[in-house]
Amino acid sequence: MDFKVAVVAGDGIGPDIVKQAVKVLDTVGDKFGHQFEYNYTLAGGAAIDAVGEPLPEETLQVCKESDSVLLGAVGGPKWDDLGGNQRPEAALLGLRSALGLYANVRPAVLHDALKDACPLKPELLEEGGLDIVVMRELTGGIYFGERGRNEEGETAFDTLVYSKEEVRRIAVAAFDVAMKRNKKVTSVDKHNILESSRLWRSVVEEVAKDYPEIQLNHMYVDNAAMQLVSRPSQFDVILTTNMFGDILSDEASMITGSIGMLPSASIGSSKLGLYEPVHGSAPDIAGQDKANPLATILSVAMMLRYSFNLQKEADAIEEAVTKVLDGGFRTGDILSNGMKLVGTEEMGDLVAKNL
Ligand code: IPM
Ligand code: MG
Repeated sequence: MDFKVAVVAGDGIGPDIVKQAVKVLDTVGDKFGHQFEYNYTLAGGAAIDAVGEPLPEETLQVCKESDSVLLGAVGGPKWDDLGGNQRPEAALLGLRSALGLYANVRPAVLHDALKDACPLKPELLEEGGLDIVVMRELTGGIYFGERGRNEEGETAFDTLVYSKEEVRRIAVAAFDVAMKRNKKVTSVDKHNILESSRLWRSVVEEVAKDYPEIQLNHMYVDNAAMQLVSRPSQFDVILTTNMFGDILSDEASMITGSIGMLPSASIGSSKLGLYEPVHGSAPDIAGQDKANPLATILSVAMMLRYSFNLQKEADAIEEAVTKVLDGGFRTGDILSNGMKLVGTEEMGDLVAKNL
């Protein structure tokens, strides 16, 4: 089969890690007889530098005409003084919104080989390790509500709005994911304070009626933040809002040893998805062959699974990553005693070789 992939390498380590993911994808293509066609396009700081805006219309067009989007990372200190809508991050929000990608799937798995890199005491993971999926609402909430300042600039506001439909569709996505896993959903909100959380909870309860097999519980976000590090094994699927999901997925990532390990898929109602690592652009190590490409490589596995329905190809990538880790190879962020330090490029080669 032929697939068109829009590639937005972005800023900082973006180009370093995307290169390795493309290498792995090409190897999958060779092994399994698929053709991937790449359309490289600009967004974020790279686009600001080239054409003066973070998300050029042409980029959006290229993405819309593709079967999926692979994204590295956007942002960096160089563009930090720009106003809200001019910043590199605006490209990411613009893409998510324009492509209708309301569901952000962020799996956090602690690989056996990385147990040493996990900062929690081993006994906290005894119940069953860490294997969770954060289902983060991605095109609504406080990220997309009205914001501004009063005329004197003395006050500022950001608005948190959710409609029933927005909650319903992410809840359905989360329950569907849970049906293929351990059938447990923890919906995270701030029901004791926020009206939008009260709407959220009632819609989630409503959706749950269609999934009698799913065990649903609700948790306040502050408690969830604590439970993630005190009893992480209790979670299967975490269903939550845009901002809470942003925060909790970073927290979950650390339990897996490094944020450098976490992939993500942003999907909507069509097959077109956007696949990117959860981590940022790490400008301090850009272009130095130090970044961990595994989160981006694992994001490509999610692309194969969710956008192209290529399950065995996706499994093959995940198994290759596990083999490389079992072989003792580590980038700096996940390095521990006795392991072999490798750079970005070599890590990509190793995964490709193990396919
Ligand atoms: C993420 C990132 C983004 C977000 C930033 C870069 C806009 O932190 O994907 O988690 O907040 O959504
Ligand atoms: Mg984040």
